Amino acid sequence: MKKFSKVAVLAAFMSTGVSAGALHAQTAEVLHWWTSGSEQAALAEVRKAFEAKGGAWVDTPIAGGGNARAAAVNRMLGGDPASVFQFSIGQQLRELADQGLLANVDKIASEEHWDEKLPPLIVKAAKYDGEYIAAPINIHGENWMFFNKAGLEKAGVDVPKSWSEFMTAAKKLEDAGIIPIGLGGQPWQERIMFNSVLLGVGGRDFYAKLYSTLDDDLLASDTMGKVFETFAALKPFVDESSPGRNWNEATNMVIKGDAAFQFMGDWAKGEIIAAGVEPGSTVGCAFAPAIDTAYIMTVDAFAFSAMDGEEEATPAQAKMAQVMLEPDVQIAFNKKKGSIPARLDVPADSFDSCAQMAIKTLQDPKTHLVSTGLFGVPSSVSGAIDDSISNFWNSADMSPQEGQEQFRQAIANAK
Ligand code: BGC
Repeated sequence: MKKFSKVAVLAAFMSTGVSAGALHAQTAEVLHWWTSGSEQAALAEVRKAFEAKGGAWVDTPIAGGGNARAAAVNRMLGGDPASVFQFSIGQQLRELADQGLLANVDKIASEEHWDEKLPPLIVKAAKYDGEYIAAPINIHGENWMFFNKAGLEKAGVDVPKSWSEFMTAAKKLEDAGIIPIGLGGQPWQERIMFNSVLLGVGGRDFYAKLYSTLDDDLLASDTMGKVFETFAALKPFVDESSPGRNWNEATNMVIKGDAAFQFMGDWAKGEIIAAGVEPGSTVGCAFAPAIDTAYIMTVDAFAFSAMDGEEEATPAQAKMAQVMLEPDVQIAFNKKKGSIPARLDVPADSFDSCAQMAIKTLQDPKTHLVSTGLFGVPSSVSGAIDDSISNFWNSADMSPQEGQEQFRQAIANAK
């Protein structure tokens, strides 16, 4: 593996004249998958703040979350880790800590009183053995439904409140020549839409119980049968070019009005903002139809590789952690990213109307659900969920019953 950091440190050293040792101590290689326009713009806010504090940033973008995470882990295992890497807090990050691959940022976290500034759920999930192993930067919600208002008007439909209303609306949109659902055809995107259906049909208690217990009876239940039937009924409303499509291309279809709806995390809102559209205006946001209100959370964070096997963060890692939780950075970053601040105490009144809805919803702890991406289930189960959902979605001949049984078995084998 190429030693990116050394090359970059040397380049930075030659251009500034600062001693190489001093600069090395302040250099962080940041590995991430934030490659879309809005993601880059948001991350640039962190970089600006880090550099203003004397840090040297070596950027290592890798398109696709799965690819970036695999690269981060492979580099750690190969002995050439990126010092800072994007991840989300939760079970999968803890698996890396279990293997002794991470450094903790507990010293800076206690100096800066993170325990009091972050919501309890985030505090818990960002720690391992009582120490912070990540700097949480935001809260994203995955059960959003973005829609093109003019498209809905043209087809004469209201924003659907139930999945049966959605089906009726989708038929009308089709008749009006609009693609009802702009779907990015990648397993994780298909799973995001599936989990919205699961939450919508089963309700928040069912969602929470299912994914926290992975219970076989729940997986085989009639409720789950209904979830698969509803999900299958969405297939005709997605265009043929969906397979392989990126999430931001799907968002663009909704911005332009080629597609009416996208079921996606509110990073889609970042792209809407980057396109110069005020969220809630021509592109609206609502929660995906559901019988009760809930928020499927994923919390972006940066984690820190154990450099030379050290458990304690290096000065550059600690500086990065500190910068990410600065109020100004949390505000500037999240306004561009489409998410809301991880910190409870930063003023969020300048955020858009969709963000206000998220903030209000999260005031009720009963709404708090966790994503099956990186947060709430072990990596083996998360992978099994994505694979079996994608397989079902893309198999024209598989019945909802077969899909349900395949999902049950996949989880039973993985847990
Ligand atoms: C991250 C988001 C990101 C999205 C698409 C998700 O896993 O949580 O921050 O924008 O992937 O890249």
